[in-house]
Amino acid sequence: MKKVLLSGIKPTGDIHIGNYFGAIKQFVDLASRHETRIFIADLHALTSVTDQEILRKNIFNQMRTYLAVGLDPQEVTFFQQSAFPEITEIAWIFNCLLTMPQLMRAHSFKDAEAKDKEINVGVFTYPLLMAADILVHDADIVPVGRDQAQHVEIARDAARKFNTAFGETFSEPQGHFVEETESVPGIDGDKMSKSYGNTIPLFVSTEGLKALVMKIATDSAPLEASKDPDQNNIYNIHKLVINAERDAFVRAKYLDGGMGYKEAKEMLIEDLEKFVAPIREKFNSISDEDVKKVLEEGNAKMRPIIEAKLKQVKDRTGLSL
Ligand code: TRP
Repeated sequence: MKKVLLSGIKPTGDIHIGNYFGAIKQFVDLASRHETRIFIADLHALTSVTDQEILRKNIFNQMRTYLAVGLDPQEVTFFQQSAFPEITEIAWIFNCLLTMPQLMRAHSFKDAEAKDKEINVGVFTYPLLMAADILVHDADIVPVGRDQAQHVEIARDAARKFNTAFGETFSEPQGHFVEETESVPGIDGDKMSKSYGNTIPLFVSTEGLKALVMKIATDSAPLEASKDPDQNNIYNIHKLVINAERDAFVRAKYLDGGMGYKEAKEMLIEDLEKFVAPIREKFNSISDEDVKKVLEEGNAKMRPIIEAKLKQVKDRTGLSL
């Protein structure tokens, strides 16, 4: 039997190339070798999105993105987190098993709190909803970006705590990370992230793409100077979208000197556009109705699995009479 792969992304904004190379590309690479289930973490998005129009648009666009990058609904089951109240019920039980100090050590909580003391409770218990997402499937592997590693650890701990308290019920999942694309730099050189406002969205128009690339932060090295590609924000984005042969050519341009950053950016625009164009075309051809249909089918497929797990949980905890 194939192992169960589970992952999701919260629909908080347009998918950007950091999401793609940090997480989604792994889904594509791993999908066929696993029983792959990918969901829209819309309840998680509510920790930061408070506008119904925006949330709906994000959900549709996230599904369009999954389909446009080549995830095939014949092979991958897509579903919507909020279609399963079972997940929030199980998250509540984890709320009662894990401790405040443990969640206070989560980086996501500490980072959010450092920015703003008045964070909502959802941000605090976020890892436990995520634990429920994962454990309700008895997922074997969970491909996520490095920044989610601690959350997978918390999910493993939630499984152990539940099993210790109530008897063997949940299996412990493994995280799965791609090392080399651990962090895609944003246009300011920091990690590319929606919350830093430094992203290149995957489906930006050609004009938008040009404008964003032209904004990439560079140092003041003179045109003639030989430049270290590995230390360069432009190259570190560029290398993701080219093949080995083109990569060797681009690296040599940096190392040889005589190439200014304007030229480097123009090369990047050309290659990014080549990479994005076919995906963008597919993206634009997918209707809201197409998306709904895929999600309805996936939800229906997941329903018996998730219901059975909740039943087991209710039996173990003594909630069922
Ligand atoms: N936290 C993930 C993100 O930031 C989304 C997510 C929620 C998730 N639940 C999950 C990922 C379960 C993998 C498994 O996008």
